Amino acid sequence: MESHSAAFDRWIRNDFVALNNELEDLYWQQEDRANVVGVGEEIKAAMVAQGNALIQQLVDEGNTDQGFDKAFDLLGNVGLFMAACRRHEITEPSRETQSPLTAASTLAMHIGASIGVTPRFATAHLTTHNSAENGVYKRFTDLADEKLFVDYNTKGILAYKRAADALLRLQPLGISHPIAADLLAVAEQALKDVMTSNRYLFQHLDTDRFFYCVRPYYKPYRVGKEVYRGANAGDFAGINVIDMLLGLCQANEVSYSQLLVDKFLYMMPQDQRILRDCMRLPSFMDEFLQVGEQHHKASWFQDNLKAFLNVCKLYGQTAIQHHNQLVEKYIRVPNEQLGAEHQDKVTASGPPLPVLLAQLERLRDRRAARPRDDIFTRFDDVQRLTKMVD
Ligand code: HEM
Repeated sequence: MESHSAAFDRWIRNDFVALNNELEDLYWQQEDRANVVGVGEEIKAAMVAQGNALIQQLVDEGNTDQGFDKAFDLLGNVGLFMAACRRHEITEPSRETQSPLTAASTLAMHIGASIGVTPRFATAHLTTHNSAENGVYKRFTDLADEKLFVDYNTKGILAYKRAADALLRLQPLGISHPIAADLLAVAEQALKDVMTSNRYLFQHLDTDRFFYCVRPYYKPYRVGKEVYRGANAGDFAGINVIDMLLGLCQANEVSYSQLLVDKFLYMMPQDQRILRDCMRLPSFMDEFLQVGEQHHKASWFQDNLKAFLNVCKLYGQTAIQHHNQLVEKYIRVPNEQLGAEHQDKVTASGPPLPVLLAQLERLRDRRAARPRDDIFTRFDDVQRLTKMVD
């Protein structure tokens, strides 16, 4: 007989998607595409009834001890259901003090606490840990733009992870090691891959489809009494590993360490471990600066410094692309055009958009080592190193 978790997975992969499709169709036909109130009430009721019934069986079963992978996957399924309910405003965190989805909250908290992650769906559930069946992975809708967005988030994340992995392997060898250039070349190629996939996304993703039909599934929602922030493509260790190993961001700087502390539980446990370890390692930038005076004439220093500066430059370019192209085109501009009655809902329970944009801008400028008066960046140090190149 099919297990309760298999039945729920089948529902998530089929009927759940069909219900979301129907609702998206209805919203899209309205003059005000951002409105979801009073639209498709029967479909919403069917979603809640079907999802709750399947989840209640799992709560009653009370067995989450089927190994990490299964538990994490089940948490993702509960999370997709809760995120869709939030998208359709069946739940709304600013309206409630407790999630009305009691069974889903119970199961999500049970699993989240037992495996050491937040009790909500995270980026890994939709990207790097989303298994495909017959070519189709889990998603909210059948919309081509949702698939495009998730495909290219996955590509970007995997490419950043390749860069991070190469840098982590370089760390124990040191910047003067004869193989350092090989590893920096791997990082360079991986960052070029990030740029290529970001460029494709920027050219092909439809702004309105993304803004009105994809992005709303990534909003914060309540599990039990707590609100958990939305998932974003940055919830993996690799991006911060690159930040810290290159030396562009520092774990002992308050706003950056705040960001790390806040994101830990949104990552897979193995990513949490990688990030924790990386926070204790010295950076390549500091290594180059320390030995520069003594060794700047050595051929290894010249070759590896050039390769290192090139990796830093490419990394900065990926950050500029993310902020100046993706965030600008798909979030900031469409948000400005949104009716005033929906403005507060864009950021409900998350930081207000200008605050979020300023945070992302600071990250961009640290990664691109731009000069700034208000925060520490490696602008001066990159200039010093650039002058050492023959
Ligand atoms: C974070 C927008 C694609 C990497 C964010 C945030 C926004 C955003 C608004 C901040 C979320 C928050 O803190 O609440 C977008 C848009 C995209 C897109 C509109 C495409 C249409 C990608 C892709 C990657 C990526 C393809 C590549 C892996 C990141 C990272 C963060 C982040 C690393 C965490 C903050 C940081 O460390 O920079 N994104 N993003 N994003 N995104 Fe994207």
